[in-house]
Amino acid sequence: PAQAIPVICIDGPTASGKGTLASEVAQRLGYQLLDSGALYRATALAAQDAGVDLDDEPGLARLAAQLPLAFRDHKVFLGGRDITDPLRLESTGGMASRVSQHLAVRSALHALQLSFRRLPGLVADGRDMGTVIFPDAPLKVYLTASAEQRAQRRHKQLISKGIAANIDSLLADLKMRDHRDSSRAHAPLKPAEDALLLDNSELGIEQSVQQVLNWWQGKTVFS
Ligand code: DC
Repeated sequence: PAQAIPVICIDGPTASGKGTLASEVAQRLGYQLLDSGALYRATALAAQDAGVDLDDEPGLARLAAQLPLAFRDHKVFLGGRDITDPLRLESTGGMASRVSQHLAVRSALHALQLSFRRLPGLVADGRDMGTVIFPDAPLKVYLTASAEQRAQRRHKQLISKGIAANIDSLLADLKMRDHRDSSRAHAPLKPAEDALLLDNSELGIEQSVQQVLNWWQGKTVFS
């Protein structure tokens, strides 16, 4: 049964470093990786292509239910089109946050997310991995960092890619997205009751990876 396949959930706010942490942990353990935000982002891009309004819940849900999405060699394709770069844009994240408010969209993406649970195990990152999608996961991590730290990291990341960015507007966007993601009616961003909190404001990536691997070892040694 799927329940026998281990899952590590890493949830947290925008730009907390979930993606990097999840992919590192998955790589070390040889596990599958689910970047659930990418599904909401791809739905937003599909809506943009199809001219579907971000408030059109049934229209968005139809797109989400049949996303022609493929992950190959660290790239993401939507119906044959390489969307790796547009997927990561700040503007796409903002559209994804709006798309993700709709319950019909969340339901349409539910089964797709479950299908990533394959042997030998899965590391899943997002907002509701531990609370809604994989409630039985043996390890749930809630990753946070101060908004200022997150804005600074995002700023550095963008600048290093040659993209102009302003730290104040990044901070404002990030706070708005935090607010929208945590105050929504369906599957809001919040730590699962049994989540372990990891504040990486003062931690490097390797230290965060080691913390999660230590917790995982603690969970698996005695079971
Ligand atoms: O993690 P991210 O920045 O790629 O996510 C983009 C948006 O998608 C985020 O603002 C809210 C939504 N999202 C969600 O509602 N549930 C998830 N499990 C992952 C992302």
